[in-house]
Amino acid sequence: MKHERGQWSGSLGFVLAAAGSAVGLGNIWKFPGKAYAGGGASFILIYIAIVALIGATVMLAEFALGRSQHANAAESFGKIRRKWKWVGFLGVLAGFIISCYYIQVGGWVLNYVYAYIVESAKVFADPLNYFYGVIGANGFPLFGAVIFPLLFLLISIFVLLKGTSGIEKFNKWAMPLLFLLLVVLMVRAVTLDGAQEGIAYLLHIDWSKVSGDTFIMALGQAFFSLSLGMAIMITYGSYLKKEENLSRNVGIICTFDTVVALIAGFIIIPAVFATGIEPGMGGGFAFASLAGVFENMPAGAFFGVLFYVLLLVAAITSEISIFEGTIAFVSEEFKMTRKKTIWILAVIMFLIGLLYTLSQAYLPLKGIWFDCINGVQFPIFGDFMEYCTDRLIMPLAALFTCIFVGWIWKPQNAIQEVEQGGKFRFHCAKIWTVLVKFIAPAAILTIIVVSLVTGRTLS
Ligand code: PHE
Repeated sequence: MKHERGQWSGSLGFVLAAAGSAVGLGNIWKFPGKAYAGGGASFILIYIAIVALIGATVMLAEFALGRSQHANAAESFGKIRRKWKWVGFLGVLAGFIISCYYIQVGGWVLNYVYAYIVESAKVFADPLNYFYGVIGANGFPLFGAVIFPLLFLLISIFVLLKGTSGIEKFNKWAMPLLFLLLVVLMVRAVTLDGAQEGIAYLLHIDWSKVSGDTFIMALGQAFFSLSLGMAIMITYGSYLKKEENLSRNVGIICTFDTVVALIAGFIIIPAVFATGIEPGMGGGFAFASLAGVFENMPAGAFFGVLFYVLLLVAAITSEISIFEGTIAFVSEEFKMTRKKTIWILAVIMFLIGLLYTLSQAYLPLKGIWFDCINGVQFPIFGDFMEYCTDRLIMPLAALFTCIFVGWIWKPQNAIQEVEQGGKFRFHCAKIWTVLVKFIAPAAILTIIVVSLVTGRTLS
């Protein structure tokens, strides 16, 4: 059977789709907390340098590889060197596992949109207990694990069934909406009484809060935030026409993703300073602690709805991209139609993902893990899934992508792919070669070693 591969209609559709992938929960609920921990502007400066030097380098490698081979992530490696196909497969695997749990977390976000519209008083009365209820501490989480995740999944499927044109169409209204919500929420946050201290904190450089850890946190954040090492950017690159300027698009996508993270910082940090809530990151912070912020702000329930709609839009555009990486792989490798692939994968991902939420509180499901500081451990199954992807599979995929592009496929081929016979100038080709061959692999290897030794999740 001949496979019709998708293709972006033009630059705008592609850039919005890739930016939609990059802008996700990581930007909104992890970046501000890390910026706080890393001393405000000191973290921000380090983060920007890492995105520019390492994130952009790996992103360009992924786009060039995908576009040159016009194939799914595994085949993009396999067509150049059969023996290296497993590297692409690692990325697909990371994407598949992340997709399983992202569907669940997306469902929790949807649950909170509903909660803030319908019963904000109940959330405010006991935010932590409300969150525990959603994830199943007080009985089977029918809504948190089944109904809302299913709805979230169905929205993604609805977009994906229409292929690349569906993804483009969705992102073309979702990304402007996301930006509008960000700006409205930022204006609200920075005009709260007492917000100035938060703004000053973010603009102030405090090197005393910076350690080796800060760099590694920034590095992990950059990889996760730019959706690298998950087969996404290779797949999205493979739908690109030759007349698109790869290096310019990488610049736009990295800038956009970073600007969104910064705006999220200027929403969360001023708001927590103004309302006296302890800044934090991750789900517990976004779902439970932030309720205190909304409760203490005029028209808080309304801004709560806007905030969770913002998270929802960010999560859907990311979920679509991560699902697409697996769809491209399965449909091309097993010669299945897109429609059939989507439905089969959706069922499997939903069932595996279910364990993510159920293991939080309802069932004692455990995984197994090892690191040098804590020895053998049995984390809850949900954390186990995250450890596998964030600490191991994703960074390994990114590491071997750099090694492959830098040493096996060779930088000249990637540069040719970018330049298209002189049609585009790749000004940073020389620096990029050094970065992809030496600097980026060394940095990623450091992430892997540190997280396996110390047992911390760095993304
Ligand atoms: N870039 C996303 C973020 O910042 C990460 C991600 C992408 C997660 C795609 C899932 C799917 O949240």
